[in-house]
Amino acid sequence: MILIDGKKAAAELRAELKQEVTELKAKHNKVPGLTVILIGDLTPSQIYVRNKEKSANEVGLKSEVIKYPDSVEEKAVLGKIKELNSDETVSGILVQLPLPKHIDKQKVIEAIDPSKDVDGFHPMNVGNLSSGYESSIPCTPLGCYLLIKKFQPNLNGKKAVVVGRSNLNGKPMTQLLLKENCTVTITHSKTKDLKAECLEADIIVAAVGIPELVRGDWVKKDAIVIDVGINKTDKGIVGDVHFDEVSKVAKALTPVPGGVGPMTIACLLKNTIDCFKRSQI
Ligand code: GUN
Repeated sequence: MILIDGKKAAAELRAELKQEVTELKAKHNKVPGLTVILIGDLTPSQIYVRNKEKSANEVGLKSEVIKYPDSVEEKAVLGKIKELNSDETVSGILVQLPLPKHIDKQKVIEAIDPSKDVDGFHPMNVGNLSSGYESSIPCTPLGCYLLIKKFQPNLNGKKAVVVGRSNLNGKPMTQLLLKENCTVTITHSKTKDLKAECLEADIIVAAVGIPELVRGDWVKKDAIVIDVGINKTDKGIVGDVHFDEVSKVAKALTPVPGGVGPMTIACLLKNTIDCFKRSQI
């Protein structure tokens, strides 16, 4: 079994992006800028945002975090987004989720200029991705996709099973695999026989948030298994895949932590740079 090393792949991607930022700076005399809006004081969100800022600085992006208390009014956030939309130094805007209940998530997502939507959550980007046009691609599935492609560049005709149908992961993941000519099955909590579906797969992407759901006897020999889960349990952090069991069967598997996680942030930086490049044309 080959362990797909997301930490290493992310470090390689960051090195490429750093080089690209240097070249862009020489060409345009400015660097791409990422602005993150963080509302409230949820610890995981604070950690993610700190890591995003650190990585952005590392590759030479201009990076800014705007923090609001939990009690901030929706219209203040929408006003700030409007301001950032017309700020030429801001290439990418990300509003960290989840949001407090009194703020309408979809309204916030739709307020972001699609050309600065580094999350790829705006309906315009969702639509463009599903139509096969150029778009921002959500960072987590993009990270999964790059890891799969690095391991196996030609995915023509492969059977892929995506476990989970979220807008964040499952649905965009499906689009990316379809683009690569995979035959894709998207599964979810109402799927009749999840084990039987997984057993058909050459590629499994597990993104449901259920600890160790995918077991060793669910996986075909020589399958590629990508684990998007980050679940807090009594045993510590585990993925959606039973690592010990599946590592005995699969051809390749991503660990948790050190698999998809590091790629997600590197992809956010890539999306910021891509937004900048498109804005310079
Ligand atoms: N919270 C957890 N993951 C994400 C993500 O990919 N984007 C945003 N905006 N918030 C998140």
